[in-house]
Amino acid sequence: MKPFELAVIGMGVMGQNLARNFASRKIRTVVYNRHSERAEAVIKAHGNEYLDFRKDLKSLVRELETPRKILLMVKDGSPVDEMVTELLPHLSKGDMVIDSGNSNYKDTIRRTQALKKEGIEFVGMGVSGGEEGALKGPSIMPGGSGKTWEALAPFLEKIAAKDFGGMPCVTHIGPDGAGHYVKMIHNGIEYGVMQMMAEAYDLLKNLYGLSASDIAKVFHGFNRGMLKSYLFEIAVPVLSRKDDLSKGYLVDSILDRAGQKGTGRWAAGDALDRGMVLPSITEAVFARSLSAMKGQRVELSKEYKKPTVEPNIKVGEFVSLLEQALYAGMISAYAQGFELMRAAAQEQGWPLDFAEIARVWEGGCIIRAELLNFLHKAFVSAKGKPTHLFAISPIRKALQEHLPAWRKTVAMATEAGVPTPALGTSLNYFEGMTQEVVPANFIQGLRDYFGAHTYERTDREGIFHTPWNS
Ligand SMILES: NC(=O)c1ccc[n+]([C@@H]2O[C@H](COP(=O)([O-])OP(=O)(O)OC[C@H]3O[C@@H](n4cnc5c(N)ncnc54)[C@H](OP(=O)(O)O)[C@@H]3O)[C@@H](O)[C@H]2O)c1
Repeated sequence: MKPFELAVIGMGVMGQNLARNFASRKIRTVVYNRHSERAEAVIKAHGNEYLDFRKDLKSLVRELETPRKILLMVKDGSPVDEMVTELLPHLSKGDMVIDSGNSNYKDTIRRTQALKKEGIEFVGMGVSGGEEGALKGPSIMPGGSGKTWEALAPFLEKIAAKDFGGMPCVTHIGPDGAGHYVKMIHNGIEYGVMQMMAEAYDLLKNLYGLSASDIAKVFHGFNRGMLKSYLFEIAVPVLSRKDDLSKGYLVDSILDRAGQKGTGRWAAGDALDRGMVLPSITEAVFARSLSAMKGQRVELSKEYKKPTVEPNIKVGEFVSLLEQALYAGMISAYAQGFELMRAAAQEQGWPLDFAEIARVWEGGCIIRAELLNFLHKAFVSAKGKPTHLFAISPIRKALQEHLPAWRKTVAMATEAGVPTPALGTSLNYFEGMTQEVVPANFIQGLRDYFGAHTYERTDREGIFHTPWNS
């Protein structure tokens, strides 16, 4: 029998679907799972001449073509280290271990360096698309060396989703932790986009009293226009689903407490560590944390009588404003994410290609959207120059056009007391970044008063301190 071309370790939701995707492209794939019953069950249901399993790592490794390509799709954190440790005695120089889970890029850098000493190539690879994406075509963000990319590209290109031009949604992101870093930013943007959608839902519900199914209709309309995207597509069934257990729509019975697994928090923390600005994503993380404080919110809500202001425009007009505000807000969140990637690329020495990153997000991943194609083209038109997204001509035109609606939406929300942390901060980021003078002069004055922190002047060079009390 011919040796296997590739192994997938970890038969959870993602691993089993990725393995089936490889096998469906006639790539001879062997799988393994810590608890072998799970791997056995996958093979029982889907095994064929291209998909088989092995109960022990030694046989799995022995039956692979060399240099070996072993994909890990296990829980991130210590399970990755444990699997690597178990695999290591069986591997030979030049073999590749590809961590496809949501690992922290700093762990990926550490693992890459440690395995290099053993002659093993470690690849940190971001994969997005959930269960369905893994099976039918995910967006793939591999890091690792150029040599590993050459060896893996023929396989990854076969299983990846397709972009708007029909090309595979995979590209070599850069060395060591670059792939996992870009996946972290992808997830952070996903947080920001979902939060803005939730704020839009809240506004339609609380400002205009729309029911879940009415909001589904609005979002269905959005999904046929400039907001066309996977997330707006799935928003429709999520909002329209009738509840099996009680009267009404299921969404109205779901507890308002959002979970998080950490990638959004990592992105926000990374921005703070680098002195970068990532408010839309950070606010989205805060909004999930605030949602988890259900008990306190219930108690505090009894303490206030909040005045509300009735909207002074009809719902149809508001829907049009909201669509524009969401579009502009999302561009702002992307701009922040790309600027953070620019800083990381400089500091880590990664040659990140923004046009390519936007392109591989066009298909397969959770944030896939028409907007990504717009951003891809914008970055192509910038010809690799280090340009802020807001400075690229078609983006500038779009933001200029939608700015009044964006401001009006946030103003209406504020007046009515509907919180819009992500939409509001996206606007504030735009206003701040496009404002020649910000009030930091005043901050510097205060700092110099209480701490002699000194300041610079607008009209002459040098560092100044004023004896404020004299
Ligand atoms: N679900 C998604 O939509 C999605 C999307 C993109 C990326 N990811 C990332 O992909 C990775 C896998 O996610 P998943 O959703 O497929 O997880 P999952 O369904 O919970 O499966 C987890 C897998 O990890 C294995 N595992 C856990 N601890 C282990 C250990 N100490 N040693 C060896 N194997 C261990 C499990 O083996 P047992 O069966 O033996 O417990 C199982 O195969 C995670 O990093 C996740 O963040 C998930």
